[in-house]
Amino acid sequence: MRAVVLVGGEGTRLRPLTFETPKPLLPVANQVFLDRQLGWLAAHGVDEVGLSLGYLPSAFIDHYPEGTFTDPAGRTVQLHYAQEPTPLGTAGAVRFAAEQLGVRERFVVCNGDVLTGLDLGALLAFHEARHAEATIHLAAVEEPSRFGVVPTDERGRVLAFVEKPAPGTEPTRWINAGTYVLEPSVLERIAPERPVSIEFDTFPGMLETGGALYARPSDAYWIDVGALAEYLQAHADLLAGRLGTPPAPGAREVSPGVWVQGPGPAPAGVAAPALVGERHQIDPSADVVGSVLGAGVQVGAHATVVDAVLHDRVTIGPDATVRASIVGAGAVVGARATVEAGSIVGPHVTVDAGTTLTGERRPPADSPAARA
Ligand code: GDD
Ligand code: MG
Repeated sequence: MRAVVLVGGEGTRLRPLTFETPKPLLPVANQVFLDRQLGWLAAHGVDEVGLSLGYLPSAFIDHYPEGTFTDPAGRTVQLHYAQEPTPLGTAGAVRFAAEQLGVRERFVVCNGDVLTGLDLGALLAFHEARHAEATIHLAAVEEPSRFGVVPTDERGRVLAFVEKPAPGTEPTRWINAGTYVLEPSVLERIAPERPVSIEFDTFPGMLETGGALYARPSDAYWIDVGALAEYLQAHADLLAGRLGTPPAPGAREVSPGVWVQGPGPAPAGVAAPALVGERHQIDPSADVVGSVLGAGVQVGAHATVVDAVLHDRVTIGPDATVRASIVGAGAVVGARATVEAGSIVGPHVTVDAGTTLTGERRPPADSPAARA
């Protein structure tokens, strides 16, 4: 089975982390997000994936130098790179990648920022049973206006596709969860060589012309990790075992709810739930809880790290506090500094000792934003 994964977006909602690393290559619970997604696809029988590249394409080629991905169970996915000459929108990108892949049969499309436990086989079976031309996975959310909202009839036939409606006007809580099963005929509905949106153009166009567009609701775990609050929530959910355990491949539960990668006992100073990467140095007087710490993270004496995500090689100084925030790879939070309330510290940034960031984003000095 073949799939196209859309990974060409700029990841603006996770800046400054995405200035140098495209969103799908950011870690989620210490595993590169796209590796998680490819593992999920491989577990459902997908063995060939076209990566639809736009933003920072060489980062993907560098991450998969062999052009393959192999999951911990030994399943291999052959990768193909489809780099758009100019941004083609979500549907244009699908058409371009599918052509590069030589797709002539039913295939799967995924947004590259969706973490889900969806049973892809059940979606394919539903598609087959309805003789659908396209089938959309639906998830129920609290704030549907931030998504594509998709009302259906009782058999799952799509009645409307409303991308990002005004808050309060949503016809249903069921939204486009960003995984589709498509027949190759859908590709003919997408004009070549110019930007076309699957959400604004292709799916609404199918409804206008009576195309067999279906959608299947599922209560499987689902989250779009593309914004700060959801990125943090995905970590909390993985720590809570909502997508199964271990939260990261190879992690060991060294005490209830405390997961550690690499050798060694439960680090003093860390309380459940938590995931701690290898080569950590955590002072026993620190207070780490509800957090994911990457490889080589150092936490100083009497520092507090709560509901936070620290990427690889982050240093938290003594008496510093990080709460409900993300700290990018190699960054330093100085002694007595506070990073809180949905802040993002960019990679390699130093937060000076004693300063406070509240809901603030700190880009690296050499990032496009800092130069502007
Ligand atoms: N190749 C390519 N080219 N990829 C793109 C482009 C493009 O021009 N534009 C966006 N993408 C990729 C992004 O990298 C991401 O993986 C995916 O397409 C979706 O883009 P987002 O920017 O994350 O969209 P969204 O989250 O606001 O909305 C989409 O996802 C929701 C579910 O999470 C829509 O599909 C909504 O309808 C849906 O509900
Ligand atoms: Mg998204």
